[in-house]
Amino acid sequence: MNRQDNKGIFITFEGIDGCGKSSQTDLAAEYLESRGIDFIKTRDPGGTALGSKIREILLNYEGHIASMSELFLYLADRAQHVEEKILPALSEGKVVLCDRYVDSTIAYQGYARGLDKQQILDLNSIVAYGLMPDLTFVFDITPEVACSRLGEKKDRLEAECSEFHKKVREGFLDLAGKDPGRIKVIDAGRGIGAISEDVISILKTRLSC
Ligand code: TMP
Repeated sequence: MNRQDNKGIFITFEGIDGCGKSSQTDLAAEYLESRGIDFIKTRDPGGTALGSKIREILLNYEGHIASMSELFLYLADRAQHVEEKILPALSEGKVVLCDRYVDSTIAYQGYARGLDKQQILDLNSIVAYGLMPDLTFVFDITPEVACSRLGEKKDRLEAECSEFHKKVREGFLDLAGKDPGRIKVIDAGRGIGAISEDVISILKTRLSC
C-alpha cells in the first residue's frame, strides 16, 4: 500500500454532529455523477463490513468507553477502511468522497476528549499508511443550531453536552486555520442549496469539472 501510487483525489466532509455534512456529501456525489466523474462515496466510521460493526459499538454501546478505547476503535475502523476501500479506489484514479476522517479524530478525541493531538496524528499515520485528504470541507455551525436539527433520539456522541460540541467546533476551526490550503470552512448555518453551491464551486475548481 503506497500513497504515491494514487492517481485519485481524496475529499473529506467534516463538522460537528448535526452540521448537515452527510446531505452535502450526497449533493456533491450527485454533482460528480452528473459530470460523469468516476467516484465512490463512503463514510468513517462504518465504510466496510467490519467497520459497520465497529460503528455500532462506537455509537450505541451503553456502558462506559474509555477515551483511549474510543480512539483505537476509530483507528481500527480506519485501518480497515483505508486498506479495503479508500486506497484501492484512489489507485484506480477515482475521486473518494468520505463523510469524516482524521480531522474528526483530532477534533473529537483530541480537542474534546483531551487526548494528545500529535499522538493521534502519529497513530493515524500508521493505520492509514500516511494517507491524508487532498481537500476537506468543514461545515461550520453553532452547537445550538446543530442540536436543534438532530432528532429526539441521539446516539452516544450526539448526546454529549453542548460544551463538548463547542470544543469539537473549536477544534475543526483551529485545524482549518492551520491548513487553509486543504481545509475549506463553509458557513453551514444557511439553507442547504446555498451551502451546496459553495461546495460545488470549490469542487469545480479543484477537479476542473
Ligand atoms: P457520523 O454520525 O457523522 O457518521 O459520525 C459518527 C460519530 O463519530 C460522530 O459523533 C463523530 C464521531 N467521530 C469521532 O468521535 N472520531 C472520529 O474519528 C470519527 C471519524 C467520528
